[in-house]
Amino acid sequence: MTNHIRLISIAFLGVLLFSCQSKEKNNTEKIGYVASESIQEKTDLQKSIDRGREVYDGFCVQCHLPNGKGTRGIFPPLDGADWLTEKRAESIHAVKYGQSGEIVVNGVTYNNVMPPMGLSDREVADVMNYIMNAWSNTQDKKVTIEEVKGISN
Ligand code: HEC
Repeated sequence: MTNHIRLISIAFLGVLLFSCQSKEKNNTEKIGYVASESIQEKTDLQKSIDRGREVYDGFCVQCHLPNGKGTRGIFPPLDGADWLTEKRAESIHAVKYGQSGEIVVNGVTYNNVMPPMGLSDREVADVMNYIMNAWSNTQDKKVTIEEVKGISN
């Protein structure tokens, strides 16, 4: 009789222990997954920014300058530019195909020509990620190659 009760309580304890353990395991797995996902995202964006810096130094710096401030009335700024933050698709379009005609950036009118530079979709995405995160700019929504591909003339 006593043996019987002991056996049942041991079995009960076992079930209790098992369910606690599996719950704990599930939680750690979930936390681990979320953490590695955000680190991965950051690394991909950072890599794109690093490549974009080289594109900027090769293709953009002569007009928009190393500090991204451009020249008032001639070459618009990229640092703190409302165009860049408010017109994401138009900015990608400008870098991909060139840009001319009247535009207003931070309240100043520009009517000049930025020639098309023949960049690949990947280079456009990389340089966009660079200029959107250089100087005082912070935009962590990454421009992807697919997004650039989707913007047509
Ligand atoms: C030959 C000079 C020149 C070069 C090189 C150049 N730009 Fe521009 N960029 C301009 C001009 C001029 C405008 C404004 C055109 C207009 O008046 O419509 C402009 C506009 C822009 C705009 C939209 C307005 C803004 O200020 O946000 C972006 C974004 C931009 N350029 C990014 C780039 C990037 C990135 C590169 C390099 C891949 C680059 N530009 C290379 C002259 C240049």
